[in-house]
Amino acid sequence: MTVPPSPATATAPGGGRNLQAIRGMHDLLPAQVGTWQRLEDTARQVLEGYGYAEIRTPIVEVTELFKRSIGEVTDIVEKEMYSFADRNGDSLSLRPEGTASCVRAVIENGLLNQSQRLWYRGPMFRHERPQRGRYRQFHQIGVEVFGLAGPDIDLEVILLTARLWRALGLTGLRLEINSLGDAAERAAYREELVCYLDGYRDRLDADSQRRLATNPLRVLDSKSPETQAIVAAAPTLMDHLGAQTREHFAAIRAGLDAAAVPYCVNPRLVRGLDYYNRTVFEWITDDLGAQGTVCAGGRYDGLVAQLGGCDTTAVGFALGIERLVELMELTGGRATPPLDAYFVAVGEWAQREAPLLAERLRDAAPGVRLMTHCGGGSFKSQFKRADKSGARYALVIGDSELERGVIGVKSLREEAEQRELSLPETADLLAARQDAS
Ligand code: HAM
Repeated sequence: MTVPPSPATATAPGGGRNLQAIRGMHDLLPAQVGTWQRLEDTARQVLEGYGYAEIRTPIVEVTELFKRSIGEVTDIVEKEMYSFADRNGDSLSLRPEGTASCVRAVIENGLLNQSQRLWYRGPMFRHERPQRGRYRQFHQIGVEVFGLAGPDIDLEVILLTARLWRALGLTGLRLEINSLGDAAERAAYREELVCYLDGYRDRLDADSQRRLATNPLRVLDSKSPETQAIVAAAPTLMDHLGAQTREHFAAIRAGLDAAAVPYCVNPRLVRGLDYYNRTVFEWITDDLGAQGTVCAGGRYDGLVAQLGGCDTTAVGFALGIERLVELMELTGGRATPPLDAYFVAVGEWAQREAPLLAERLRDAAPGVRLMTHCGGGSFKSQFKRADKSGARYALVIGDSELERGVIGVKSLREEAEQRELSLPETADLLAARQDAS
């Protein structure tokens, strides 16, 4: 029996090995693009509605940027970065997230002399173990605000995300918030936490034992049930917050209450990146399995100075496009809008004329979704294609229509006789369709 070659070793017709996408990195096929575009377009509209401006930064940065911002002893920097030596020996990395690059860009381009509300989108890269909702190349839409210190802006970015879910028709997302305090408050808490956890050192999972020395706050979000049970009785950071931090947090809570955005305070929400202080938040769904956090962020007041800029407060978040797209698809997200019309042209003369008439229709009905049949063929085969394309109308021309200066218009979705319309009438019909959709 001949065993068919496995996909990884399949032989291409030319004799070479078929090349495949890298594990955890995916092609985005036309059938999926519609939902991505709807998310991206809606996010852009919402962000512009709040006065945010887009920024685009390179995908590759010097490795040191991520080490200094995300933190040397985080999972991302320790084990997940795609780092490589440039030809001159510099260590470069594919960006694992957008905040560090954005901070570098605002410092380097002198944008910090006034407050900035920025957003970005694009691919990020982390060498994680791929699974549902977790990829090695994934995409984020992120927001970073610089130079605003009060709780009003923390509230704004959270309300903005809530508005985005509403605009996308997503329900059932849960908001969790916490305050990580300021550096001094965290340091005092850290000491007490280490002291407490040390008493249970042998019962902690291996990762948490290691983190006890390097990054003890991360023990709080360990997934191990035994560690979780120990953590449940640990002292909480909330009890170590000073008056100002408490006030800041209380103001955000009051704002969320007033705006009727439900949330829960999760004292164990610590985030996997080191730059946060005070407010942190996550939006979580139960519908996507283990990787249910679709959006996460918080305040990071020390990072700009830490990367060499002037002392500037900051707050932001990033949402995971793949996870949100999956959620939109689960809840019946709309795919790519269907074609308005498919142009069928029978005979040599008509095939020459069809592309020109299609151009005139596009001029007369801007934005019309019109596909012209290419490659010839019988009326029957072209009409089949028209039907398969999902278009609402087939526009038909042959010698007879051209002689009389009309276009045959046949509805493909409703029972109706074929009509003959002039070019302006056809354009009006297609334009009206668009207004209705
Ligand atoms: P993050 O929590 O690392 O935060 O990522 C934000 C979101 O990106 C996650 O909630 C998730 O939806 C998505 N995401 C992260 N890793 C993956 C992955 N491997 N596959 C698929 N989706 C993923 C940040 O990146 C911060 N820069 C957010 C921020 C901006 N904080 C302040 N400003």
